Amino acid sequence: MPVPGPGYSITVRLEAPPSASAAGDLTTAVGQAGGVLTAFDVVESHSDAIVVDITANVSSADHAEDLTKALNALPGVQVRKVSDRTFLMHLGGKLEVSPKVALRNRDDLSRAYTPGVARVCQAIAANPEDARRLTIKRNTVAVVTDGSAVLGLGNIGPSAALPVMEGKAALFKKFAGVDAWPVCLDTQDTEEIIRIVRALAPVYAGINLEDIAAPRCFEIEARLREQLDIPVFHDDQHGTAIVVVAALRNALRVVGKPIEKCKIVVSGVGAAGSAIIRLLLRKAPADIVAADIDGIVHSGRGNLDDNLSWVAKNTNKDNATGTLHDALVDADVFIGVSAPNLFGAEQVATMADNAVVFALANPDPEIDPLEAQKHAAVVATGRSDYPNQINNVLAFPGVFRGLLDAQAHHIDDEMLLAAADAIADVVDDRLNASFIVPSVFDAAVAPAVAEAVRAAARKEEVASTS
Ligand SMILES: NC(=O)c1ccc[n+]([C@@H]2O[C@H](COP(=O)([O-])OP(=O)(O)OC[C@H]3O[C@@H](n4cnc5c(N)ncnc54)[C@H](O)[C@@H]3O)[C@@H](O)[C@H]2O)c1
Repeated sequence: MPVPGPGYSITVRLEAPPSASAAGDLTTAVGQAGGVLTAFDVVESHSDAIVVDITANVSSADHAEDLTKALNALPGVQVRKVSDRTFLMHLGGKLEVSPKVALRNRDDLSRAYTPGVARVCQAIAANPEDARRLTIKRNTVAVVTDGSAVLGLGNIGPSAALPVMEGKAALFKKFAGVDAWPVCLDTQDTEEIIRIVRALAPVYAGINLEDIAAPRCFEIEARLREQLDIPVFHDDQHGTAIVVVAALRNALRVVGKPIEKCKIVVSGVGAAGSAIIRLLLRKAPADIVAADIDGIVHSGRGNLDDNLSWVAKNTNKDNATGTLHDALVDADVFIGVSAPNLFGAEQVATMADNAVVFALANPDPEIDPLEAQKHAAVVATGRSDYPNQINNVLAFPGVFRGLLDAQAHHIDDEMLLAAADAIADVVDDRLNASFIVPSVFDAAVAPAVAEAVRAAARKEEVASTS
């Protein structure tokens, strides 16, 4: 059941009697209606009435309406207006462009724009690499989507995806000083997306693909990586994989198991699951068994696409068949990036002792974390209201900061693994079963990830030129 949270926060402006008990009556009514009061401001005061803004977290639109009715029903109270604070935050969008140079007079204008700018253009025409030195390319990333797999909302299209992409760009700036810009494409045709992104690439030093549905996302990323000389990174794949690998390294420290001895079950072999499996294989676990909506992935299963065929070939050493529940027996680790409520505490009981459970389906995990805790030693989810939140924000800002600083032309697994180690290292001696990853607000994370990625990228650049 949803609980009141800041994602659903309202401000109710109302008129109330100026009596000594008015404030108490109002706040009690909020609590009795199940809301969580976060602010109480008297905005006007008159001899016969006060005007108050009451801000509260609620759990849904219906809940907001119930709470408003409860306030309106108090004697002498009249609700004037209800504002949804989340919508208020999005009015007019969340980003703007602001010039870095002053344009005060003719002299400034002549250098920033014509005629002076022409010499800078000619310098870049003579040496295209100078674009990284003399233009916004140096610090700018495109956040590209076709709107086909947005959050848990599915295929809602490019316009509806824009608030998410704006938010992503804001996070890039806030956490790593990267200038990211939303590029929401009104096409879901693989060839057209590739052509458009290739054509707009000159402005950018990196491409962050976002919320593009599997399996199309695999081909788009692979082909763009071949065709472009800037890093292309699908965050739903690799951002997730980095944070999962980091969290797993620390979870296995908590339970004292080496990954080489662990059987890992991955539920969901879409964008996130495939990337997690590929990166985890670099850590040489005893085995990975993958399962999707049709059960365990094995080479004898029919209708395997290219992605699933690769997974079947590179996992499941014993060629096991059956359901997710079968796969869980004796598993040391469960990683879910699939669908809500797939199993319960009784299946966790069949896992090996000191099991690790990462139930990351959003917003509702594969298993209720409280159920998982009955038998598992470490539990993580994608949610902010439980400990151990696996959140891509830990990875992507620092990853791109490092890539841009190194002027990297590509990204590879070495850099992803370096980022994962950097995130895991930030936890250091604060490690325990409820703290396997740092907070997303830990200011040490993005610089540590950036430094690790920068070093890995530079090492490869040196190796490739020597
Ligand atoms: N940081 C995080 O916490 C994080 C990061 C990425 C994805 N996720 C979550 O993981 C889930 C998958 O994301 P994705 O982008 O990979 O999606 P996707 O659509 O690309 O893949 C979904 C996969 O889940 C499988 N699946 C669907 N229903 C299933 C069921 N009932 N039983 C077993 N398998 C089932 C599908 O067969 C597919 O392999 C989403 O809920 C997403 O929110 C969380």
